[in-house]
Amino acid sequence: MEAKLKGRHFITTQDWTLEELETLFALAADLKTARAEGRATPLLSGKTLYMIFFDASTRTRNSFETGMTQLGGHGIYLSPDKMQISHGENARDTAKVLSRYGDGIAIRHCAFSEGNAYLREVAENTDVPLLNMQCDFFHPCQILADYLTLKENFGGKTRGLKLGVAWTSAPNYVRPLSVPQSLILMMPRFGIDVTLAYPPEFKLMPEIEEQAKANARAAGARFEISHRFEDAFDGADAVIPKSWGPLVTTRDVPEGLRLIEKYPDWRCEAKHMALGKDRMIYMHPLPADRGREVTDEVIDGPQSVVYDQAENRLHVQKALMALTM
Ligand code: CP
Repeated sequence: MEAKLKGRHFITTQDWTLEELETLFALAADLKTARAEGRATPLLSGKTLYMIFFDASTRTRNSFETGMTQLGGHGIYLSPDKMQISHGENARDTAKVLSRYGDGIAIRHCAFSEGNAYLREVAENTDVPLLNMQCDFFHPCQILADYLTLKENFGGKTRGLKLGVAWTSAPNYVRPLSVPQSLILMMPRFGIDVTLAYPPEFKLMPEIEEQAKANARAAGARFEISHRFEDAFDGADAVIPKSWGPLVTTRDVPEGLRLIEKYPDWRCEAKHMALGKDRMIYMHPLPADRGREVTDEVIDGPQSVVYDQAENRLHVQKALMALTM
């Protein structure tokens, strides 16, 4: 299995089989243990990953770059405004040149209706793996970390868990759809029942919602959409309340921000956490808009696992890089 993954692109979890994803989670757990025990894991000695960030990042940049160091390789941070991309060099030429030098290319490009297309063009023009560090449609590395966090919190058994994914109101900028879309695609494939709650203007891409339904049917899991915030919490084992923009409804930023302001009550508070199972955990990919998306009481409370989730980005991405590069 591991040999089959060498050279593979990772743009969405949808492109990988469950067996391939399980291989990744097993290696991530081994690498996490090795790090806790202080054992070196130089699986990528002498290898280089180019990391192109069209958008800001704290967790993704540092977990990828640190991950390359811990695997004995080198991660190079690249900003398009310091590359010839800023003068119009196209995705094809950028991909072909970087793949002559190094061993992998990772990209974050979240501009709606541009990012995924850019990644796909790079992937078509490189013979080294292309890793998605978040695009307009998908944030697969975040969802790998989320799944590892669920496994750790529920004794390795995830089939039959109920996960609530709820939209929250955070009006300082319009966030991509990539996290909720990746969650609803992958979690049902592992038998997790997902309730997705959002106000009507915040629907996700119709083809992604349809694919999520198909994934759930194939796995014997439930996938439901609600327009009531509380439904994501009722009887849940885990909740991920987070903001995204009304990008399917409008691309106009001031209008989008106005729509976000329309629903200030879509905020995770202690009263919502009380609706779940006793052991329900609170998750968020971060950065969280404290006070708007969630109260400090919840995100800093005993049910919150947000820092474990952020740490798991490092372990799953090390596994991803070690398997593909
Ligand atoms: N969750 C996440 O991707 O964080 P950054 O935007 O800081 O990378």
